[in-house]
Amino acid sequence: MNFVDTHCHLNDEKFAEDLIEVVGRAENSGVRRIINFGDTLKSSAAVVELAAKFANMFAGVGIHPEEISGFDKNSTDKIIELAAQKKVVAIGEIGLDYYWEKDSDTRLMQQKIFIEQLDIARQLNLPVCIHEREAHGDALKILKTEAKGLRGVMHCYSGSLEMAREIWKLGWLIGVDGPLTFKNSAKLPEVVKAAPSEMILLETDAPYLAPVPNRGKRNEPCFIVDVAKKIAEIRGETLETVAQYTTENAERLYNIKEG
Ligand code: NI
Repeated sequence: MNFVDTHCHLNDEKFAEDLIEVVGRAENSGVRRIINFGDTLKSSAAVVELAAKFANMFAGVGIHPEEISGFDKNSTDKIIELAAQKKVVAIGEIGLDYYWEKDSDTRLMQQKIFIEQLDIARQLNLPVCIHEREAHGDALKILKTEAKGLRGVMHCYSGSLEMAREIWKLGWLIGVDGPLTFKNSAKLPEVVKAAPSEMILLETDAPYLAPVPNRGKRNEPCFIVDVAKKIAEIRGETLETVAQYTTENAERLYNIKEG
């Protein structure tokens, strides 16, 4: 079986002790390629470094909406510089987070910096990985206007089926993570069931959001198989089929075809 973990953070200090073992377990479970995403300038530089060190790793660079304080022209230049490095395949994770941010001025600032980074993606012809939490309306509005012509994924999708249909219409994918396996997962199973097979990406978001039966523990790429199994169960498909189309989707969006 061949999986791609299209979104994780193996630069996180939680992997400092045993990264080699984590990568080994991923490979043994069929997770042949991993894309790590930055959320600050520092972590973006760290994921680029990881991609240089490990043959099966790629990187996405960008500033997360909760990390925008101090963002300036210099930050934009640094992201462009990092994005030009080898094996950087995306701009992300960028977006809007209204769950943690309640202040309306700071929310406007999030939108402005999100849009600036979308422009970087357009300039460099890279796909985009979007973090969006409780900002469904504004995120969709920006997708339809400022992100026109760009490709990408709504990472760790948490919206409604109705919104997902609009996202698919725009040609964007949804990322499916551990929460699909949670008992209280309400809308996501319905979204996964209705999704065209070419519109789903598999992700872990490790070290966060470990799927059942490891919920609450540190997440890692090999647990992606538990998310894939749940997708197979919901859609009435085999695990092989899910592995195949999600891997093809990852290769197509992030341009990471195996040599
Ligand atoms: Ni993430």
